[in-house]
Amino acid sequence: MTRYLITGGAGFIGSHIAAALRARGDFVRILDNFATGKRANLVAALGSEQGGPLAEFLEGDLRDDAAVRRACQGIDVVFHEAALPSVARSVEDPLTSDDNNIRGTVNLLLAARDAKVRRVVYAGSSSAYGDTPTLPKHEEMPGDPISPYGVTKFTGELYCRSFARVYGMSTVILRYFNVFGPRQDPSSPYSGVIALFCRAAVEGRSATIHGDGEQSRDFTYVDNVVAGNLLAAERDVPPGTVLNVATGSAVTLNQLVSTLGEITGRKLAVTHGAPRTGDIKHSLADISRARKLLGYEPHVTFRAGLERTLEWYRSSAPSTAAPKTVPSA
Ligand SMILES: NC(=O)c1ccc[n+]([C@@H]2O[C@H](COP(=O)([O-])OP(=O)(O)OC[C@H]3O[C@@H](n4cnc5c(N)ncnc54)[C@H](O)[C@@H]3O)[C@@H](O)[C@H]2O)c1
Repeated sequence: MTRYLITGGAGFIGSHIAAALRARGDFVRILDNFATGKRANLVAALGSEQGGPLAEFLEGDLRDDAAVRRACQGIDVVFHEAALPSVARSVEDPLTSDDNNIRGTVNLLLAARDAKVRRVVYAGSSSAYGDTPTLPKHEEMPGDPISPYGVTKFTGELYCRSFARVYGMSTVILRYFNVFGPRQDPSSPYSGVIALFCRAAVEGRSATIHGDGEQSRDFTYVDNVVAGNLLAAERDVPPGTVLNVATGSAVTLNQLVSTLGEITGRKLAVTHGAPRTGDIKHSLADISRARKLLGYEPHVTFRAGLERTLEWYRSSAPSTAAPKTVPSA
Protein backbone atom coordinates (compact mmCIF):
# COMPACT_ATOMS: atom_id res chain seq x y z
CA MET A 1 0.00 0.00 0.00
CA THR A 2 1.30 3.47 -0.88
CA ARG A 3 1.95 5.59 2.21
CA TYR A 4 1.26 9.32 1.92
CA LEU A 5 2.47 12.27 3.98
CA ILE A 6 0.57 15.56 3.73
CA THR A 7 2.31 18.57 5.20
CA GLY A 8 -0.26 21.22 6.07
CA GLY A 9 -3.01 18.59 6.22
CA ALA A 10 -4.89 20.55 8.89
CA GLY A 11 -5.28 23.35 6.37
CA PHE A 12 -7.82 23.91 3.64
CA ILE A 13 -6.33 22.11 0.60
CA GLY A 14 -4.29 19.55 2.55
CA SER A 15 -7.37 18.36 4.43
CA HIS A 16 -9.18 17.75 1.14
CA ILE A 17 -6.26 15.73 -0.23
CA ALA A 18 -6.21 13.72 3.01
CA ALA A 19 -9.96 13.07 2.84
CA ALA A 20 -9.70 11.87 -0.77
CA LEU A 21 -6.88 9.46 0.10
CA ARG A 22 -8.70 8.13 3.15
CA ALA A 23 -11.84 7.65 1.02
CA ARG A 24 -9.77 5.31 -1.18
CA GLY A 25 -8.52 3.46 1.90
CA ASP A 26 -4.92 4.69 1.68
CA PHE A 27 -2.52 5.34 4.56
CA VAL A 28 -2.29 9.06 5.41
CA ARG A 29 0.04 10.88 7.78
CA ILE A 30 -0.37 14.60 8.39
CA LEU A 31 2.28 17.01 9.69
CA ASP A 32 0.97 20.41 10.77
CA ASN A 33 1.76 23.05 13.40
CA PHE A 34 -1.70 24.73 13.31
CA ALA A 35 -0.20 28.04 12.22
CA THR A 36 -3.28 28.55 10.07
CA GLY A 37 -4.74 25.02 10.15
CA LYS A 38 -7.52 23.76 12.39
CA ARG A 39 -8.32 20.66 14.41
CA ALA A 40 -11.78 20.65 12.85
CA ASN A 41 -10.15 20.12 9.44
CA LEU A 42 -8.32 17.08 10.78
CA VAL A 43 -11.59 15.62 11.95
CA ALA A 44 -13.11 16.28 8.52
CA ALA A 45 -10.09 14.73 6.80
CA LEU A 46 -9.31 11.74 9.00
CA GLY A 47 -12.61 11.24 10.81
CA SER A 48 -12.81 8.84 13.71
CA GLU A 49 -9.84 6.92 12.29
CA GLN A 50 -7.38 9.60 13.41
CA GLY A 51 -4.71 7.88 15.47
CA GLY A 52 -5.61 4.52 13.93
CA PRO A 53 -3.25 2.45 11.80
CA LEU A 54 -4.11 4.27 8.56
CA ALA A 55 -4.55 7.87 9.73
CA GLU A 56 -1.72 9.47 11.69
CA PHE A 57 -1.32 13.05 12.84
CA LEU A 58 1.98 14.57 13.94
CA GLU A 59 1.87 18.04 15.44
CA GLY A 60 5.11 19.64 14.36
CA ASP A 61 6.83 22.37 12.43
CA LEU A 62 8.41 22.11 9.00
CA ARG A 63 11.40 23.96 10.33
CA ASP A 64 11.99 21.35 13.05
CA ASP A 65 14.45 18.86 11.62
CA ALA A 66 13.46 16.00 13.94
CA ALA A 67 9.74 16.50 13.25
CA VAL A 68 10.08 16.37 9.45
CA ARG A 69 12.39 13.37 9.60
CA ARG A 70 9.88 11.50 11.76
CA ALA A 71 7.11 12.55 9.37
CA CYS A 72 8.96 11.25 6.27
CA GLN A 73 9.83 7.86 7.73
CA GLY A 74 8.33 5.01 5.70
CA ILE A 75 6.58 7.42 3.31
CA ASP A 76 6.27 6.84 -0.46
CA VAL A 77 4.70 10.12 -1.58
CA VAL A 78 4.69 13.59 0.03
CA PHE A 79 2.10 16.25 -0.78
CA HIS A 80 3.82 19.39 0.47
CA GLU A 81 0.97 21.81 1.23
CA ALA A 82 2.26 23.48 4.40
CA ALA A 83 3.09 27.18 4.04
CA LEU A 84 1.97 30.55 5.30
CA PRO A 85 -0.33 31.17 2.36
CA SER A 86 -1.06 34.88 2.27
CA VAL A 87 0.19 37.72 0.09
CA ALA A 88 -0.93 40.38 2.57
CA ARG A 89 0.73 38.65 5.52
CA SER A 90 3.99 38.37 3.59
CA VAL A 91 3.92 42.07 2.76
CA GLU A 92 3.58 42.86 6.47
CA ASP A 93 6.11 40.29 7.64
CA PRO A 94 8.29 38.88 4.85
CA LEU A 95 10.80 37.27 7.18
CA THR A 96 8.25 34.91 8.76
CA SER A 97 6.90 33.89 5.34
CA ASP A 98 10.46 33.28 4.16
CA ASP A 99 11.29 31.16 7.18
CA ASN A 100 8.20 28.93 6.96
CA ASN A 101 7.92 28.65 3.21
CA ILE A 102 11.54 28.49 2.07
CA ARG A 103 13.50 27.09 5.00
CA GLY A 104 10.57 24.80 5.80
CA THR A 105 10.55 23.48 2.22
CA VAL A 106 14.29 22.86 2.10
CA ASN A 107 14.08 21.05 5.43
CA LEU A 108 11.23 18.89 4.12
CA LEU A 109 13.06 18.09 0.87
CA LEU A 110 16.18 17.03 2.78
CA ALA A 111 14.17 14.73 5.02
CA ALA A 112 12.29 13.28 2.02
CA ARG A 113 15.56 12.70 0.19
CA ASP A 114 17.09 10.88 3.15
CA ALA A 115 13.94 8.79 3.72
CA LYS A 116 14.03 7.79 0.01
CA VAL A 117 10.54 9.13 -0.64
CA ARG A 118 9.46 8.12 -4.17
CA ARG A 119 7.81 11.45 -5.10
CA VAL A 120 7.28 14.92 -3.66
CA VAL A 121 4.35 16.92 -5.06
CA TYR A 122 4.83 20.60 -4.22
CA ALA A 123 2.00 23.11 -3.83
CA GLY A 124 3.25 25.92 -6.03
CA SER A 125 1.39 29.10 -6.79
CA SER A 126 0.30 31.19 -9.76
CA SER A 127 1.95 34.10 -7.92
CA ALA A 128 5.20 32.82 -9.49
CA TYR A 129 4.10 34.51 -12.74
CA GLY A 130 3.74 37.98 -11.24
CA ASP A 131 1.82 40.60 -13.17
CA THR A 132 3.14 40.06 -16.70
CA PRO A 133 0.48 41.15 -19.22
CA THR A 134 0.61 37.85 -21.16
CA LEU A 135 -2.47 35.70 -20.64
CA PRO A 136 -3.00 32.84 -20.21
CA LYS A 137 0.04 32.03 -18.11
CA HIS A 138 1.95 29.03 -19.34
CA GLU A 139 4.74 27.19 -17.61
CA GLU A 140 7.48 28.28 -20.03
CA MET A 141 7.06 31.93 -18.98
CA PRO A 142 9.82 33.15 -16.68
CA GLY A 143 9.03 33.39 -12.99
CA ASP A 144 8.65 37.00 -11.87
CA PRO A 145 6.79 37.10 -8.55
CA ILE A 146 5.80 40.46 -7.05
CA SER A 147 5.00 39.81 -3.40
CA PRO A 148 7.29 38.28 -0.79
CA TYR A 149 4.81 35.38 -0.64
CA GLY A 150 5.23 34.83 -4.40
CA VAL A 151 9.00 34.88 -3.98
CA THR A 152 8.83 32.24 -1.25
CA LYS A 153 6.57 29.94 -3.29
CA PHE A 154 8.68 30.34 -6.42
CA THR A 155 11.87 29.71 -4.46
CA GLY A 156 10.31 26.51 -3.13
CA GLU A 157 9.76 25.43 -6.74
CA LEU A 158 13.37 26.14 -7.61
CA TYR A 159 14.48 24.00 -4.68
CA CYS A 160 12.24 21.17 -5.91
CA ARG A 161 13.84 21.44 -9.33
CA SER A 162 17.31 21.65 -7.82
CA PHE A 163 16.70 18.52 -5.71
CA ALA A 164 15.54 16.74 -8.87
CA ARG A 165 18.75 17.69 -10.69
CA VAL A 166 21.26 17.36 -7.89
CA TYR A 167 19.91 14.38 -5.95
CA GLY A 168 17.75 12.73 -8.62
CA MET A 169 14.58 13.21 -6.58
CA SER A 170 11.23 12.86 -8.33
CA THR A 171 9.60 16.20 -7.59
CA VAL A 172 6.52 17.62 -9.32
CA ILE A 173 5.41 21.24 -8.96
CA LEU A 174 1.73 22.14 -9.24
CA ARG A 175 0.96 25.84 -9.59
CA TYR A 176 -2.48 26.39 -8.08
CA PHE A 177 -4.61 29.34 -9.20
CA ASN A 178 -6.96 30.78 -6.52
CA VAL A 179 -8.37 27.67 -4.97
CA PHE A 180 -11.74 27.82 -3.20
CA GLY A 181 -14.13 25.45 -1.48
CA PRO A 182 -15.41 24.16 1.85
CA ARG A 183 -13.08 24.59 4.86
CA GLN A 184 -11.31 27.63 3.43
CA ASP A 185 -10.88 29.92 6.40
CA PRO A 186 -13.03 33.07 6.11
CA SER A 187 -12.13 34.54 9.51
CA SER A 188 -9.17 36.73 8.68
CA PRO A 189 -8.60 39.75 6.44
CA TYR A 190 -5.95 37.53 4.78
CA SER A 191 -8.56 34.98 3.68
CA GLY A 192 -9.30 34.15 0.05
CA VAL A 193 -11.90 36.40 -1.57
CA ILE A 194 -14.48 33.65 -2.19
CA ALA A 195 -14.33 32.56 1.46
CA LEU A 196 -14.84 36.17 2.57
CA PHE A 197 -17.68 36.83 0.13
CA CYS A 198 -19.49 33.54 0.90
CA ARG A 199 -19.39 34.33 4.57
CA ALA A 200 -20.64 37.87 3.95
CA ALA A 201 -23.47 36.44 1.83
CA VAL A 202 -24.43 33.90 4.51
CA GLU A 203 -24.36 36.53 7.26
CA GLY A 204 -26.19 39.15 5.18
CA ARG A 205 -23.26 41.59 5.44
CA SER A 206 -21.59 43.63 2.72
CA ALA A 207 -18.33 42.51 1.09
CA THR A 208 -15.30 44.69 0.38
CA ILE A 209 -13.74 44.77 -3.06
CA HIS A 210 -10.24 46.20 -3.21
CA GLY A 211 -10.21 48.24 -6.43
CA ASP A 212 -12.89 48.36 -9.14
CA GLY A 213 -13.81 44.67 -9.13
CA GLU A 214 -12.64 44.15 -12.71
CA GLN A 215 -9.60 42.18 -11.53
CA SER A 216 -9.99 38.57 -12.61
CA ARG A 217 -8.87 35.20 -11.35
CA ASP A 218 -8.86 31.60 -12.52
CA PHE A 219 -10.90 30.44 -9.51
CA THR A 220 -10.41 26.70 -9.07
CA TYR A 221 -12.70 24.50 -7.00
CA VAL A 222 -10.70 22.45 -4.50
CA ASP A 223 -11.81 19.04 -5.84
CA ASN A 224 -10.09 19.90 -9.12
CA VAL A 225 -6.88 20.61 -7.22
CA VAL A 226 -7.17 17.33 -5.33
CA ALA A 227 -7.60 15.49 -8.64
CA GLY A 228 -4.47 17.20 -10.01
CA ASN A 229 -2.49 16.14 -6.94
CA LEU A 230 -3.58 12.50 -7.10
CA LEU A 231 -2.59 12.34 -10.76
CA ALA A 232 0.74 14.08 -10.08
CA ALA A 233 1.55 11.45 -7.46
CA GLU A 234 1.12 8.60 -9.93
CA ARG A 235 1.83 9.70 -13.49
CA ASP A 236 5.21 9.28 -15.08
CA VAL A 237 6.45 12.87 -15.51
CA PRO A 238 10.02 14.15 -15.79
CA PRO A 239 11.48 15.15 -12.39
CA GLY A 240 11.09 18.85 -11.61
CA THR A 241 8.14 19.31 -13.99
CA VAL A 242 6.03 22.44 -13.40
CA LEU A 243 2.29 22.21 -14.15
CA ASN A 244 -0.54 24.72 -13.85
CA VAL A 245 -3.55 23.33 -11.99
CA ALA A 246 -6.56 25.55 -12.64
CA THR A 247 -9.58 25.72 -14.94
CA GLY A 248 -8.37 27.78 -17.91
CA SER A 249 -11.13 30.40 -17.54
CA ALA A 250 -11.22 33.70 -15.66
CA VAL A 251 -13.94 35.31 -13.53
CA THR A 252 -13.91 38.94 -12.34
CA LEU A 253 -14.80 39.87 -8.77
CA ASN A 254 -17.85 41.70 -10.11
CA GLN A 255 -18.95 38.46 -11.85
CA LEU A 256 -18.33 36.55 -8.62
CA VAL A 257 -20.61 38.97 -6.78
CA SER A 258 -23.38 38.62 -9.35
CA THR A 259 -23.13 34.79 -9.43
CA LEU A 260 -23.39 34.72 -5.64
CA GLY A 261 -26.49 36.90 -5.95
CA GLU A 262 -28.02 34.48 -8.49
CA ILE A 263 -27.37 31.47 -6.27
CA THR A 264 -28.66 33.05 -3.05
CA GLY A 265 -31.47 35.01 -4.71
CA ARG A 266 -30.23 38.15 -2.93
CA LYS A 267 -27.79 40.73 -4.29
CA LEU A 268 -24.59 40.91 -2.25
CA ALA A 269 -23.93 44.48 -1.08
CA VAL A 270 -20.41 45.67 -1.92
CA THR A 271 -18.15 48.46 -0.70
CA HIS A 272 -14.97 49.43 -2.55
CA GLY A 273 -11.60 49.87 -0.84
CA ALA A 274 -8.16 50.83 -2.13
CA PRO A 275 -6.33 48.21 -4.27
CA ARG A 276 -4.03 46.04 -2.16
CA THR A 277 -0.23 46.21 -2.39
CA GLY A 278 1.23 43.16 -4.12
CA ASP A 279 -2.09 42.06 -5.67
CA ILE A 280 -2.04 41.32 -9.39
CA LYS A 281 -4.75 42.55 -11.79
CA HIS A 282 -5.48 39.44 -13.89
CA SER A 283 -4.69 35.77 -13.59
CA LEU A 284 -5.58 32.98 -16.00
CA ALA A 285 -3.92 29.62 -16.58
CA ASP A 286 -3.06 27.65 -19.65
CA ILE A 287 -3.74 24.09 -18.44
CA SER A 288 -2.74 22.24 -21.60
CA ARG A 289 0.44 20.80 -20.05
CA ALA A 290 -1.43 19.29 -17.10
CA ARG A 291 -4.00 17.90 -19.53
CA LYS A 292 -1.28 16.33 -21.66
CA LEU A 293 1.09 15.00 -19.01
CA LEU A 294 -1.36 14.14 -16.23
CA GLY A 295 -4.65 13.63 -18.06
CA TYR A 296 -5.94 16.39 -15.75
CA GLU A 297 -9.41 17.83 -16.34
CA PRO A 298 -11.18 20.38 -14.09
CA HIS A 299 -14.47 18.52 -13.84
CA VAL A 300 -16.16 20.80 -11.28
CA THR A 301 -17.28 24.10 -12.85
CA PHE A 302 -16.97 27.48 -11.14
CA ARG A 303 -20.72 27.73 -10.59
CA ALA A 304 -21.10 24.18 -9.23
CA GLY A 305 -18.11 24.73 -6.94
CA LEU A 306 -19.53 28.03 -5.70
CA GLU A 307 -22.88 26.38 -4.90
CA ARG A 308 -21.15 23.63 -2.87
CA THR A 309 -18.96 26.17 -1.11
CA LEU A 310 -21.84 28.43 -0.20
CA GLU A 311 -23.76 25.43 1.11
CA TRP A 312 -20.84 24.53 3.36
CA TYR A 313 -20.59 28.08 4.77
CA ARG A 314 -24.34 28.02 5.39
CA SER A 315 -24.14 24.78 7.33
CA SER A 316 -20.98 25.57 9.29
CA ALA A 317 -21.07 29.34 9.77
CA PRO A 318 -20.83 29.41 13.60
CA SER A 319 -17.72 27.20 13.85
CA THR A 320 -15.86 28.97 11.02
CA ALA A 321 -16.48 32.28 12.75
CA ALA A 322 -14.16 31.24 15.61
CA PRO A 323 -11.03 33.37 16.03
CA LYS A 324 -7.95 32.25 14.12
CA THR A 325 -4.86 30.79 15.69
CA VAL A 326 -2.01 33.27 15.47
CA PRO A 327 1.06 31.85 13.69
CA SER A 328 3.63 30.69 16.21
CA ALA A 329 6.72 32.05 14.49
N1 LIG B 1 -5.54 28.51 -1.42
C1 LIG B 1 -5.05 28.93 -2.59
O1 LIG B 1 -5.75 29.56 -3.38
C2 LIG B 1 -3.64 28.60 -2.99
C3 LIG B 1 -3.18 29.07 -4.24
C4 LIG B 1 -1.87 28.79 -4.61
C5 LIG B 1 -1.07 28.02 -3.79
N2 LIG B 1 -1.54 27.60 -2.57
C6 LIG B 1 -0.65 26.81 -1.72
O2 LIG B 1 -1.34 25.65 -1.30
C7 LIG B 1 -0.90 25.26 -0.02
C8 LIG B 1 -2.09 25.07 0.91
O3 LIG B 1 -2.77 26.31 1.04
P1 LIG B 1 -4.15 26.45 1.84
O4 LIG B 1 -4.97 27.44 1.12
O5 LIG B 1 -4.70 25.11 2.13
O6 LIG B 1 -3.64 27.15 3.17
P2 LIG B 1 -3.95 26.79 4.72
O7 LIG B 1 -3.42 27.94 5.50
O8 LIG B 1 -5.35 26.40 4.90
O9 LIG B 1 -3.03 25.51 4.92
C9 LIG B 1 -1.65 25.60 5.18
C10 LIG B 1 -1.35 24.63 6.31
O10 LIG B 1 0.06 24.61 6.55
C11 LIG B 1 0.26 24.62 7.95
N3 LIG B 1 1.59 25.20 8.19
C12 LIG B 1 1.99 26.47 7.91
N4 LIG B 1 3.29 26.63 8.29
C13 LIG B 1 3.68 25.43 8.79
C14 LIG B 1 4.89 24.98 9.35
N5 LIG B 1 5.97 25.79 9.47
N6 LIG B 1 4.97 23.70 9.79
C15 LIG B 1 3.90 22.87 9.70
N7 LIG B 1 2.72 23.25 9.19
C16 LIG B 1 2.61 24.52 8.74
C17 LIG B 1 -0.87 25.47 8.50
O11 LIG B 1 -1.11 25.25 9.88
C18 LIG B 1 -2.02 25.01 7.62
O12 LIG B 1 -2.68 23.90 8.17
C19 LIG B 1 0.08 26.35 0.44
O13 LIG B 1 1.38 25.89 0.18
C20 LIG B 1 -0.23 27.54 -0.46
O14 LIG B 1 0.88 28.36 -0.64
C21 LIG B 1 -2.80 27.87 -2.16
